[in-house]
Amino acid sequence: MSSTESQPAPRLVSDSQSEMTEIILPNDTNTLGNLLGGRLMHFIDLTGAMAAYRHSRTHVVTAAMDHIDFIQPVHVGDLLILKSRVNRAFSTSMEVGVKVWVENTQTGVLLHVASAYLVFVAIDQNGRRVHVPPLKPVSADEQRRFEGALRRREYRQAEARRRKLALQTQNGPEQTENAPA
Ligand SMILES: CC(C)(COP(=O)(O)OP(=O)(O)OC[C@H]1O[C@@H](n2cnc3c(N)ncnc32)[C@H](O)[C@@H]1OP(=O)(O)O)[C@@H](O)C(=O)NCCC(=O)NCCS
Repeated sequence: MSSTESQPAPRLVSDSQSEMTEIILPNDTNTLGNLLGGRLMHFIDLTGAMAAYRHSRTHVVTAAMDHIDFIQPVHVGDLLILKSRVNRAFSTSMEVGVKVWVENTQTGVLLHVASAYLVFVAIDQNGRRVHVPPLKPVSADEQRRFEGALRRREYRQAEARRRKLALQTQNGPEQTENAPA
């Protein structure tokens, strides 16, 4: 990554906001006709990447997906609605929030299915990390998510250090050199 790159102009949350709607088909479901958790995570990853692309306007890779609770089952024939936005941009990484609802096609009732935070890292076409534009929060909600993103980043970093230390204690420093940070 070049340290001589100039800082790009800040982008707004509205620049990255993205939405995807999927109709749930039998191929997306288990033997009871409920949406598979892994398939939901795939849709979350894709919708999150859309926001990261729109913010950074470069290539991105998923670095992390936080804990997800599956609050509500989704059935074959339902509409799945996913919305994403960048919460905060750091140096080369961005935290993206994704929220998912299910819409019953017959009644129109919308229920919250899951929410997740993902971290995407911006790279160029040679796979080198590149700086991302800063994010400028405007509304009170955007400011709240912006502040929350910093707390979650600090928590992820502390957790990564804790896991590394635990592995070192378990295996010794040589075996843990290539373990994830
Ligand atoms: C993500 C990746 C680019 C990070 O590269 P790295 O050389 O380890 O980079 P660093 O540790 O120097 O961190 C670079 C940035 O990524 C962030 N990052 C790295 N690993 C992270 C993790 N596990 N969780 C959250 N953020 C992470 C760092 O905080 C840093 O952000 P910043 O530049 O905004 O401060 C690299 O690990 C990678 O390519 N992973 C595979 C990605 C992939 O294939 N995704 C698809 C999943 S199947």
